[in-house]
Parts: sequence; structure tokens; C-alpha cells
Amino acid sequence: MTKITIEGNNLLSGEIKISGAKNSAVALIPAAVLSKEKSIIYNVPEIKDIEYLIKIMELLDCKIEHKNNTLYIDSSNLKNKPIPEDLSVQMRASYYFMGALLAKFGKVEMSFPGGCNIGARPIDIHIKGFEQLGAKVEIIKNRYIITADKLIGKKIYFDFPSVGATINIMLAAIGAEGTTIIENAAMEPEIVNVASFLINMGVKIRGAGTKRIEIEGTRKLNNGICEVFSDRIECGTYIIIGALLGKNLTIKGVIKEHLEAFLMKLKEVGVKYSINGDTLIISKTENLKPTYIKTLVFPGFPTDLQQPFTTLLTQATGMSIIEETIYENRFKNTYDLNRMGAITNIISLNKLEIKGPRKLHGTNVIATDLRGGASLLIAALIAEGTTEIENSDVILRGYSDVIKKLENVGAKIKITE
Ligand code: UD1
Repeated sequence: MTKITIEGNNLLSGEIKISGAKNSAVALIPAAVLSKEKSIIYNVPEIKDIEYLIKIMELLDCKIEHKNNTLYIDSSNLKNKPIPEDLSVQMRASYYFMGALLAKFGKVEMSFPGGCNIGARPIDIHIKGFEQLGAKVEIIKNRYIITADKLIGKKIYFDFPSVGATINIMLAAIGAEGTTIIENAAMEPEIVNVASFLINMGVKIRGAGTKRIEIEGTRKLNNGICEVFSDRIECGTYIIIGALLGKNLTIKGVIKEHLEAFLMKLKEVGVKYSINGDTLIISKTENLKPTYIKTLVFPGFPTDLQQPFTTLLTQATGMSIIEETIYENRFKNTYDLNRMGAITNIISLNKLEIKGPRKLHGTNVIATDLRGGASLLIAALIAEGTTEIENSDVILRGYSDVIKKLENVGAKIKITE
């Protein structure tokens, strides 16, 4: 287990380059098992989840070369093998092997996926979708066994526009005879990123990025090539850091169309920045205003930026409210934020109030989940004194090179085992 130590309250200047999106990369890698033989994925972030996915790919006899943020994947000897718990449990995205291997072999065996402990996180929508395509899903001792003699394209309606289920059914539908239509699909940029990779392999997909996606099943796939979009959540996190501590902090690799709701909320609280192409320049904002935020599916305010934004709102004058509608347990970071001097209060199951402005002070805290950890990291950067963040491995799961990126712009930060 690693520990991040930060001496806070230093202004940050220089340049931060945003890495490839975790949530795209973790889907693109399992999707690569569908390519004819070889695929190339550019702009892959250096995060723990990628290391585990590579281990799963190697277990399936894929050859992987990983250099300069690029993955060269050779799946010509791909074999279908059960994915054991010690690998599947390391991250949520291991579930993308369900759709990909089902399409390729008509069978998958894997243990339950893992991921941050931020709510119940069932995968019933994925399972229902596989079943609607004709698969049989059994759960035997914490293992999913999914089999299909034949998958047949269907019209599937999602009760909720789940990101994971949209990608998983898109993958499985490639192995189905005929056309699959997903109604009420998720519209997050990750889905567009995966669809373009699959289209590049020769799959006919229409409507990715809208509520209705059509996928034509095919056995004829080519090699695939794609670039991971830049990470909108990492980007939003560094923009928040810039709003609190920036001195002409330059953030490169910004896709503003992926961050509209977040940028609107920043404007509402009084944060100013300039943006030119994919470069954003931001300095510390004084006199932040409070706001109301409701997390929603894309293009609404992303739940993954809710916890980092909470730390920003501890510095706003007045009372802010955050309503979390995606997960039922995503305020765990507030316990330690309060220990650092914030005043936050969970006023009902999914509503948090934040009173500010509050001076934060360094102390020992524990990162309980990835974005909650990011919220504490931001708090540590603005706090007086030294903060030690235990269990910081969870932060490394989503923030590529975070120590070096912050060190380079002037943060006093180190990581120890
Ligand atoms: C993905 C992201 C995660 C992000 C989330 C919402 C990855 C690896 N993770 O997670 O960072 O927070 O999107 O933007 O891409 N649900 C069900 N049944 C299902 C599937 C989901 O009830 O079968 C519920 C979940 O419990 C959750 C909500 O739907 O409350 C959203 O889940 P979903 O969109 O599927 O998120 P993930 O794909 O797990």
C-alpha cells in the first residue's frame, strides 16, 4: 500500500498534459480480443487498471507490447480461459471481457468484477442484455458462466443508460446474427471511443453517442487501430486544482465538448479561465460562489467529478448542495474532509451540504475510493501543513503519473510504499 504526502498551500504554475481516459482504455483493451489478429491502441494512461487488464490479456495468450503509452496487441493465439478472481476483482472494467469473449467464442467464465466501493453496483442490465441476445447466464460460486450456441440480434431497452452495459452489449452484439438495437443507451464519450475502434475493425455501428445504437453482427473483423480520448475526469480534476491554486496553470489535452456541464458549473461558482483549442489556462479564483449540483448521466454533470468538486466548494462563500443521483454511497470522502476542517453534512441519503469558506489543515486521511481519494488530494494541496493520504493506491488507479504531473508544476508531493 502506498502513501501520498503533501505539503499544502503552494501555487502551481507550468503545464499539465492530460492522459488517455481510463474509462475508454479499460474498454478498448478487452475489445481488442475481437480484432482479426493485431491492434494498436495509442494514448493509453499509465494506471494500475491497465496493468491488470494486460495480465488478463496475457492469460488469454495475447501478446502485448507496451511502450510510450501505446499498446501493440497480437491476439492471433487468443484462447478462451476462465478469468480468475484475483484478476477480475481488481477493477470493474474486467466485465468487458464478458461481452467481448461471448461475441468471439460464445462462452465466458469469469469471477465477479471489482471496482470502487461506492454503492451496490449490480450488473443486471448487462446480464439481461446478454440473455436477450440468446445467452444463458449462470452464477456458480461467485463466478459467471455465460454461454450461447448462437447469439441473435434483438432490440434491447435499457431501464437505465448504463455506461458499462452499453459497451458490453455493443461488444456481445458483434457476435450475434443480424442487427441489435440498444434503446436508452448511455451517451458518454467512452462509448463513442469504443464504437470508433470497432468501426475501424469493420463492424457496422450507427448512433454511438446517442440514445439509440445499432450494431450489425459480423464474423469478419479486421485489425484495429485507435487512440484513447483524453480523460475528461482527470482533466476536470486538474481544472479544479487550477481554480484553487493555479498561477497561469496550463492544462493541455482538454476536450471541452466532453466537459460542458462541469465547465458551466465552474462559471457559476465564479471560476475564470481561458481556452484556446485544447489548451486551458487557469489561475486561482478568489471569492468563489456556492452552487447546487445534481449528478446525471452524460451530458449532465458527471458523478466522477462530484467528489473533487466538493473540495472546491469548501472554499465557496455560503452553502452549496450536491445531489448524487448515480450512486448511493458516494460521500465517504466527506468524513476526512471534515477532519481537515471542512463543514459538510449529509442531509439525506443522496444530498450533501457544504458550508464555506473553510481553511483546511493537513492531517492523516484515508482514500476510500478513486474519486474520493482525488477529493482528498485536492484538499491536501490547499491545506496548511502536511497531509498524509493512506491507501493512495486507489488514486493511482485513475490518475496517470499524478505525482510527477503535480511535482512538475510546483506541488510538494511524494509517494512512499
Ligand atoms: C462507469 C465508469 C464510472 C462512472 C460510471 C457513471 C467505468 C469503468 N466506470 O461505471 O467511473 O462513475 O460509469 O458515469 O467506465 N447499474 C445497475 N445495473 C447495471 C449497471 C448499472 O443498477 O447492470 C447502476 C449502477 O449501480 C450505478 C448506475 O447504474 O448506480 C450507473 O452505472 P454505470 O453507468 O453502469 O456505471 P459503470 O459502467 O459501472
